[in-house]
Amino acid sequence: MPGTPTQDYRELMSTFPTGVAVVTGLDADGAPQGMTCSSIASATLLPPTLLVCLRTGSRTLSAVTARGSFAVNFLHDGGQEAAELFSRAEANRFSQVHWRMSQAGLPRLAQDAFAVAECKVSDVHMVGDHAVVLGEVTTIAQVPGTPLLYGLRRFAAWPIAAVRPGGRR
Ligand SMILES: Cc1cc2nc3c(=O)[nH]c(=O)nc-3n(C[C@H](O)[C@H](O)[C@H](O)COP(=O)(O)O)c2cc1C
Repeated sequence: MPGTPTQDYRELMSTFPTGVAVVTGLDADGAPQGMTCSSIASATLLPPTLLVCLRTGSRTLSAVTARGSFAVNFLHDGGQEAAELFSRAEANRFSQVHWRMSQAGLPRLAQDAFAVAECKVSDVHMVGDHAVVLGEVTTIAQVPGTPLLYGLRRFAAWPIAAVRPGGRR
């Protein structure tokens, strides 16, 4: 039996697996904010630009737009707890993970991510209940690691050997 269009859409998108990241930024008071995000895509190569979709009303979105910058922390397959933490309604998420401030003043997860892309906001489109944020990538830090995956409403580990920076195995 078909559900509502929204239910059907959620069901459909649950069958499309993705990687998982924590998008972080500093809010106007200088406090770190961050949320788990899988709506991430490469937008353009020249200039290197990615997009993230963040729900309206999110403190992370406010931080991203306030400072005009954000970091995408790509989680490795040991990062499921961080993914769950940064998706819960929890006041102080950063007190429960190891993190550090980057030179550019963006919060980086120190143990749960295998790569971080720091971005300068180049455009924001408000679309329905989300903001589509385009970010030009200014800095990339990457170490070998295998990505955490999410699909069919479950977390999973990438099934093949670690990927090195630059895509080589
Ligand atoms: C695997 C996973 C992926 C998610 N992807 C997104 C996403 O792409 N965009 C979004 O707005 N929320 C996403 N969420 C939900 C947010 O993480 C959740 O609503 C979080 O509480 C938002 O944080 P905030 O209250 O600080 O905005 C995802 C949650 C999970 C578990």
